[in-house]
Amino acid sequence: MNTDLFGHPVANGKPTNGLGRRDHLTFRGNVALGRHGWLRLTPAYSLRLVQELLKESGPDEFVLEPFSGTGTTPLACASLGIRCHAVDINPFLVWLGNLKLTRFDDGTARAVKSAAARIADNARETHAGAWKPELHQIEKWWDASTLHTLAALCDGIRNPSRERAPGVADLLAVAFCRVMIQSANVSFGHQSMSFKKGVKDAGLVEETPTRIAARLADAFVTAVADVAASLDINPSVADCRVFLGDSRDLPSLLSASGAKYTAVITSPPYPNRMSYIRELRPYMYWLGYLSDGRAAGELDWKAIGGTWGCATSMLNTWTPNGHGEIPFQHFDRIVRDIGKGHALLGRYVHKYFEDIRGHILGLKQLLVPGARCHYIVGNSKFYETMLPVEGIYAALFEDAGFMDVSVETIRKRTSKKELYEFIVHAHAPKAVLLKHRARDTETRN
Ligand SMILES: C[S@@+](CC[C@H](N)C(=O)[O-])C[C@H]1O[C@@H](n2cnc3c(N)ncnc32)[C@H](O)[C@@H]1O
Repeated sequence: MNTDLFGHPVANGKPTNGLGRRDHLTFRGNVALGRHGWLRLTPAYSLRLVQELLKESGPDEFVLEPFSGTGTTPLACASLGIRCHAVDINPFLVWLGNLKLTRFDDGTARAVKSAAARIADNARETHAGAWKPELHQIEKWWDASTLHTLAALCDGIRNPSRERAPGVADLLAVAFCRVMIQSANVSFGHQSMSFKKGVKDAGLVEETPTRIAARLADAFVTAVADVAASLDINPSVADCRVFLGDSRDLPSLLSASGAKYTAVITSPPYPNRMSYIRELRPYMYWLGYLSDGRAAGELDWKAIGGTWGCATSMLNTWTPNGHGEIPFQHFDRIVRDIGKGHALLGRYVHKYFEDIRGHILGLKQLLVPGARCHYIVGNSKFYETMLPVEGIYAALFEDAGFMDVSVETIRKRTSKKELYEFIVHAHAPKAVLLKHRARDTETRN
């Protein structure tokens, strides 16, 4: 019997044991896993999956994670003492990832909790006027009283009444994010957020402002205690960090470090039009990483697979950049078929794979010969046209000279029959080694 990475039975490359959602292979399985569970953000993938992929790693392993997101890969590496460099285009996620990797002093947990108690006491009082972010239609996200208390909590974090140890404000900000998102009028579906019905619309009795302030202040203290408890286990001292940058041009970002990576473990954005910037907006506005809609759209345009806000109009005028054809049979036909439903979507898919192609070509330069690559990807469907994402990734790796390229199906993604998640496995070309050897010989002669 054939089995997958986790020992589950597979037939014809697809899991056979119920084809369930297998939530342990998604971010849902990460909650309550210490620092991995700090914030439940849509981009995260499964810690267990990463741990499986790291099982064989030896002391020389040096992992590259080009799409770090919430930092699952670097934190998993750090806890095993494995070196890892990670990259993300989103400064909020870079901050969060590096914070998770920080080693804190013994006294930090105590300092965070006492700072939180002071901030919460202050926020229980009703006083107006604290700073609120310029989030579009903010009143749809929070009612006036909730917003008022959130602003008071945020103000307490930004403007401390006494000096704080390093990291304390950051940890308070993580706890604030939890309260802020839990109190928001939104629900997060499997792919994107939507606004909930208001209390009045749902026919419920409204809470008094004092009660709301007390509830949120208590929730903040609880969230801080939870975050503080996860500081007990410090990550190892291995070189693990997250860089802010664009994975479409890894050499200019990472060459200077001189590192050569032995493995790549990652989950790039999927071509499904989900925008991480849109989903992460509330966090980014409150923490000061975004201050207007234009900047949000521009960041989404830099993100692979982003099409939100002004990124949509930029896509309308985008033309292929000349990296060459996408080397997958029928790619042009697939793009044309998708484009028949909506011209923008055809262009979206085309650009997505041009970006991924650029990424893979740059990546190659940073790997040791034979380095293993594991890309967790999901396929998509646009109207009636299936987009075989896993096959196109495999073709791009092969075209770039990678070896032993294979595709493993790991789980069904939604109730839709055809949507799965896969791992595309590949090994970096050995030819790079030969070229290096030739150059070394030339220099010696
Ligand atoms: C699927 S998520 C990664 C999830 C991650 N494995 C985790 O567990 O949190 C994809 C990530 O790619 C990032 N991203 C998108 N375009 C990028 C680019 N051009 N360069 C670097 N990161 C990018 C997004 O910001 C997002 O965090």
